[in-house]
Amino acid sequence: MKKTAWIWKNGQLTPWDDAQTHVLTHTLHYGGGAFEGIRVYESQQGPAIFRLQEHVERLVYSCQVLGMELPWDARSIFDAIVHTVSANQLRYGYIRPIAYFGYGELGVSAKGNPPELAIACWEWDAYFAHEFIDVKVSKYRRINPEATVIDAKICGHYVNGILSSLEIQNTHYHEALFLTSDDHIAEGAGENFFIVKDGVIYTPPLGHILPGITRATIMQLARDQGLKVLEKNLTLDDALAADEAFFTGTAVEVTPIGSINDHAIGDGSVGPVTARMKQIYQDVVHGRVKEYAHFLTPVGDNGYKAV
Ligand SMILES: Cc1ncc(COP(=O)(O)O)c(C=O)c1O
Repeated sequence: MKKTAWIWKNGQLTPWDDAQTHVLTHTLHYGGGAFEGIRVYESQQGPAIFRLQEHVERLVYSCQVLGMELPWDARSIFDAIVHTVSANQLRYGYIRPIAYFGYGELGVSAKGNPPELAIACWEWDAYFAHEFIDVKVSKYRRINPEATVIDAKICGHYVNGILSSLEIQNTHYHEALFLTSDDHIAEGAGENFFIVKDGVIYTPPLGHILPGITRATIMQLARDQGLKVLEKNLTLDDALAADEAFFTGTAVEVTPIGSINDHAIGDGSVGPVTARMKQIYQDVVHGRVKEYAHFLTPVGDNGYKAV
């Protein structure tokens, strides 16, 4: 990780190395925190943060789910993120706000532990260093939505992803794909899943997945391009019979999938619809398409929109 100068912590810019927390931090023990992954891109107007408002809203929602009463509202968090990127003079990269219960009482209930908020950012390039990736279906199932609030981005949910990444460690696979307990495709460890069949784009419906901001963006961009996009339960057989498949996410952007369980998808290379969506996405995040300029918050200009 490429260090920057400052991490915003509980209202103040703190030198990177000093942004520490106590070992009895409640979230460290029980996973009851919430976080976001956000990208800042170089654009013609200078550095610009992609869909910041949506990320802040999801963070605030995830905190509410955890009963975490942050002393900062959405507007202050939005401003703090812009301020942190600006203070670090970051031109492009990744932003990681995390809200967590600090140190106070020990016990599963987080009551008595002060909510804290930190915002770090750093220069970060592509998540996968490959043009397309090989995926393996995890032996673990996606966390059951009856066991949690699945549309919140909660730290503890990521144990599911950590276990799946252990399965593929030291193999040729680049990412794991989760099925639901009823054998439908859910999502990747940190990505949403799409297939293309006969020119139509399909993606699993909400319910078992994180409602990805990139997923929503791709669905909108594709529809605006006149492509048909359907939310539909997909089986592994549907995926293996697809012409194309790809992952979406803030970190992975649009990442083509070459194979699943060593079965080539289509001809095993990047298909035309995937290539088109990948290109449009890059044009939009870099501010090259006027109609979607509102997705970007230039760092020099706080574009907060009250909702
Ligand atoms: C489990 C999971 N699914 C999907 C996504 C994609 O979400 P987004 O596009 O909002 O980054 C992420 C990344 O945050 C994730 O962790």
